[in-house]
Amino acid sequence: MASLTEIAEGILANAKRLDEYTASKGLRYSTFEKDTLSNLPDDFEDCRKSLVDSTQELKQLAHGPVGLLLETLFLFNDLLSLRFIYHYNIPQYVPADGSISYADIARASKLDEALLRRFIQAAMVNRVFSEPQINYVQHTAISRLLKEDPEAMDAVGFLLEDLAPASTKVLAAFEKWPGSGEPNETGFNIENDTGDPFYLELAKTPERSRRFGGGMRFMTRGSLYDIGHLINGYDWAALDKADGLVVDIGGGHGGVSRALATSTIKLQLIVQDLPGTVKEGESLLPENLKGRVKFMPHDFFTEQPVKGADVYFFRFILHNWSDSYCTKILKNLLPAMKNGSKVVIYEFLISEMANTAWSQKQGRNLDMIGATGWNSLERTTSDWENLFASVDPRYRFLGARTPENSSVSLIEAGGEQTRSYGHQNGKEEDDWSVVAILSGTSSRNAEAKDLAEDERQTSDSRAGSRGSSDGLKPFGDAVGCSRRRERRRRPRRFQSTCRP
Ligand SMILES: C[S@@+](CC[C@H](N)C(=O)[O-])C[C@H]1O[C@@H](n2cnc3c(N)ncnc32)[C@H](O)[C@@H]1O
Repeated sequence: MASLTEIAEGILANAKRLDEYTASKGLRYSTFEKDTLSNLPDDFEDCRKSLVDSTQELKQLAHGPVGLLLETLFLFNDLLSLRFIYHYNIPQYVPADGSISYADIARASKLDEALLRRFIQAAMVNRVFSEPQINYVQHTAISRLLKEDPEAMDAVGFLLEDLAPASTKVLAAFEKWPGSGEPNETGFNIENDTGDPFYLELAKTPERSRRFGGGMRFMTRGSLYDIGHLINGYDWAALDKADGLVVDIGGGHGGVSRALATSTIKLQLIVQDLPGTVKEGESLLPENLKGRVKFMPHDFFTEQPVKGADVYFFRFILHNWSDSYCTKILKNLLPAMKNGSKVVIYEFLISEMANTAWSQKQGRNLDMIGATGWNSLERTTSDWENLFASVDPRYRFLGARTPENSSVSLIEAGGEQTRSYGHQNGKEEDDWSVVAILSGTSSRNAEAKDLAEDERQTSDSRAGSRGSSDGLKPFGDAVGCSRRRERRRRPRRFQSTCRP
């Protein structure tokens, strides 16, 4: 472990690089009033991340065990003051430029001035508003964001009014329904006194549902979620032929499929979702993509009706479901899969071992959110491997990797029928070969070589830290994934409207 001085020297080096970068762009160094560190090129983004990680480490060491424990224990107060700011929409009372007195905010909001001052000053500790002089409030970059970007406010509302209260009931749910994997036996269910699962419950209140969508769009905006990572991180070009077909299961309004259609020429895409969502997605589809992107109502708990697709794709679906439900979803694909079909999943991958880097915390956050609202989880590489192994021996786990600079990872599995998919001669086909999974090759030598390569990569990725791109090997070419590392121009960004 590095000494305080060594950590601080690393911090100094990264801080200097970032200051030099902003100066080279004619920008001032970053302040709490004006952030100049957004939209950094990849190298400098890495530098910013290291700075966050090492300053956090230095602070934790400097605190010592008691200080650090107490800081953690009082975190609920940070959420309380921010919830106050959200609930009473305080950002709207503060002018974009200049300042306003506490007395004037109190008059406009009809809140007690002393109370207001206490909560706003508590929020200021986290740089939400500042005091340019005694009795006056002005915006910081964070509070201005809350004033000017409704989706930023939606994110605060969803997390602090829908999820945080539910998180206080998680242990009660564990006690009431021990070991449950049911989506309606969660802290969220107890908090909301409902027997309905999360999305159904939210849908009962249009404003909550709208706020959820806005919040999700805000949280998935950054470059770490850029759909370009998915587009460039998988060899879609190999499927870009007249009969190339991808089924985007639970594809929502088709954000992924639209992006894939835009970045390919011939690839056909079918977006499946529940009937209402499919209808909305269809109405949003640009005219020029209508020939290649189709929408189809389909409940993924029933048998997959589209036979013989090259890829059955899931983004942000399986992490919403416990293993027993994922098993049902994945089993329903098997009768449809042809020789060479792949299941490709795009989700967070959490590291097998605890990772204390601050920049890796998002996976843990989402894992806790899964436990709160869905009885679901974020999975490690070996979780995925075990899941596929337990669903059916015909599935073969092919590996997992994180595209460079992406928060989200690609997980892939294949399977192969020795005969054609579906029904043949009136007989259900279910005779799958465990070994012959390689599309387009029947050579035993090639199979053996590629199997060995797959296994090497699987164990490499198991050994690596799956939250980051480091230590992860790309999928082998033999399993249809790209080894390309070069950067391509990023396509237009599409945003998710669902829990990432
Ligand atoms: C978290 S969102 C992900 C949407 C999309 N994959 C994306 O990444 O933008 C989950 C989606 O699953 C859909 N969904 C939930 N239950 C479903 C079911 N039984 N069958 C099909 N789709 C379902 C929801 O309607 C929603 O669009």
